[in-house]
This record gives sequence, C-alpha cells and structure tokens, in this order.
Amino acid sequence: MQLVDNYQRRFQYLRLSITELCNFQCQYCLPNGYRPNKTHTFLSLNEIDNVVSTFTELGVHKIRLTGGEPTLRRDFVDILSIISSYSRVKELAITTNGSRLLKNIAHWQQAGLNAINISIDSLSPHLFKLITGQDKLKELMQCVERSLEVGIKKVKINTVLMKNMNDNLDDYLLWIKHRPVELRFIELMETGDSNDVFKRYHTAGSIIESQLIAQGWQLQPKMPLSGPAKVYVHNDYQGKIGLIMPYSKDFCKSCNRLRVSSVGKLHYCLFGDAAVDLRDLLVSPEQKTQLKTRIFASLMIKPEKHLLHEHHVGITPNLSYIGG
Ligand code: GTP
Ligand code: 5AD
Ligand code: SF4
Repeated sequence: MQLVDNYQRRFQYLRLSITELCNFQCQYCLPNGYRPNKTHTFLSLNEIDNVVSTFTELGVHKIRLTGGEPTLRRDFVDILSIISSYSRVKELAITTNGSRLLKNIAHWQQAGLNAINISIDSLSPHLFKLITGQDKLKELMQCVERSLEVGIKKVKINTVLMKNMNDNLDDYLLWIKHRPVELRFIELMETGDSNDVFKRYHTAGSIIESQLIAQGWQLQPKMPLSGPAKVYVHNDYQGKIGLIMPYSKDFCKSCNRLRVSSVGKLHYCLFGDAAVDLRDLLVSPEQKTQLKTRIFASLMIKPEKHLLHEHHVGITPNLSYIGG
C-alpha cells in the first residue's frame, strides 16, 4: 500500500509537528507574538509512536520533526529514540531555530537524528536580531560548525527572503564557499497572521536565481522523489544554494510531503482549507487498520496546488502552528 494522491504524487515524507510553542518571535512567522491555544494538548509519546508506526507501513521513510520549536519538548530525546527504532525510517530530520542545539546535538545524534535544518535569517548580527528578536547569531554559527563536527551529513540553513533586509547574496556565498551546507532561500509566504509583513517584505526567489545563474551556478538535476526545492551547485563552492519558491509555476507538482500537526490533524497542504483529525485513532496500535483507511480516504482531497496567488491562505494562522 502506497500513499499516492489524485495527481500521481507519492508521499514518502512526513512532517510531524510536536509542539506549537516557540521561544523566538520571527517577524515573518509570529509578527503578533505567540497566542497559546489553551485547549491544545500536544501528541503524547504513545500517539507519536502510533503515527510513525502507521505511516512507515504506508511507505514513509523520511520524518521531519517540526513545530513551533520541536526541541522545546522535554521528551524530545525519547521522541527521537522511538522514531529511529523503526528501521524503515531512513532519514530522521528536524527543523529548528537552534536555540537548544549546541549542548544537545551529540545526544540527539545518538538517539538517531541524522539531518538538521537550522533557521538563520541573516549573517549580520544586527539584522538577525531585527528579524528574529534574538541576539544569537554567533551561537547559531557555532551550531552549524558543531553539527558538522559531530558528523551530521545533511545540514541545511533556512533563510526566509525579505526585501531590502536580507536579500543580498554576497555574504552568503562567501560563507558557503568552504562549508558543505545547503543554504536555502525561502520565499516569504502569506499566512493569516502575516498579511502586512508579506505586503512589505515579499520578494521573488527568481531574483536570487538569476544572480546565481549569472555567476555560473548550475541547477542540480532533480532526483525521482525530491521535493519542490530547486538546488544550485558550483564547482568553486563546497556549499549549495536551495530555492524554495512557492509562488513559482508548478511548485506544487513535486509536492512529496504530508503533515501531521501537534494536535494530531492530517494537513494535506500548508495552505489547505481542511484537516482530518486522526487523534481518536492514535490511542492504540489495534486501531491501525481504521487509521490507514482514514488516511487513504482523506488523501483523495489533497489539493492540486495552493492558491496563494489569490491571497487564499487556508486555515493556517502561521507556520508555527502547523510546522512549516
Ligand atoms: P527537506 O526535508 O530538507 O527537503 O526540507 P524542507 O524544505 O521540506 O524543510 P524545512 O522544514 O526546512 O522547510 C523550510 C520551509 O520551506 C518551511 O518552513 C516552509 O516555509 C517551506 N516549505 C517546506 N515545504 C513546503 C511545502 O510543501 N509548501 C510550501 N509552500 N512551503 C514549504
Ligand atoms: N514564509 C516562509 N517561511 C516561513 N517560515 C515560517 N513562516 C514563514 C513564512 N511566512 C519557515 C522558515 C523557518 C521555518 C521554521 O518556517 O523557513 O525556517
Ligand atoms: Fe504541497 Fe501545499 Fe506545499 Fe504546494 S503548498 S507543495 S501542495 S504542501
């Protein structure tokens, strides 16, 4: 049994959000701060175990933990250990703001973590603080070095592009010249909470793309099940540049991911109008058959593409809520 939707897209990648909480307040994500939903309790270890057990049987072999900030969970190492105990999980990744990384990365790696995406929105300490509200650029740069040192093979850096703020390519290129990391520029997306930020700061990734091409960077051929990011490489650089351009044509054609939120809802799209609650079927492994039936039935309503061009942002107030 494989997870395939009506548009022949295959899903072997699950993004599992384990908390909505975040200790940063990035302008593009939580411009109005975090407003906790007091009725929400996040998935328990047992529920996470049942999600992973079921999705791996349906062909999922890559799991990315997201949030909010996933590493804020006190049982984060236990979560990693449970997921990595499934031999079908070949890649266990997190997307993190890095605030807990430096002290803990070796433990996380021992517990099975093998890929990390760290958000670094500027290489200028001043701009970094302006965008994220934190004075932590130096520490985050150490996080990157430390992750490479302990032997994490896939280290990616996420930079959300903001017009006239952090969209000058030169510093980034210098930084990845001798570092084997993939630096990704992500087009700022509009969400329920971020209309004003979007209007002010959105800029197209294609501007960066043209600059790269002019400097001799080449598009890396896409692998069969690779996701929507476009990756550029250059012989003179150890690092790569990834571009995530949701506003570009055909972005959603290569969508390869499903999302389960921290309260157990299956979201087919970051900007969808609906989500299917799985939680009542996450209590016991004996419910697995029913759970699979619900997942298959609901996959059929995964939309072909988002409608961001029409400013239709769906039910997601911000990406901290659903895990980006
Ligand atoms: P890989 O697993 O490394 O391919 O990474 P990823 O790009 O899926 O991971 P990451 O969590 O670092 O994603 C970075 C950001 O890219 C997310 O927080 C989103 O802002 C954006 N993004 C990722 N996946 C999607 C997607 O399916 N649709 C849209 N519109 N944006 C996405
Ligand atoms: N637009 C684009 N990316 C966003 N992220 C959060 N909010 C937005 C947004 N509105 C992404 C950033 C960060 C990740 C956790 O979520 O890439 O690295
Ligand atoms: Fe997939 Fe929705 Fe992202 Fe498009 S916007 S790539 S359909 S999750």
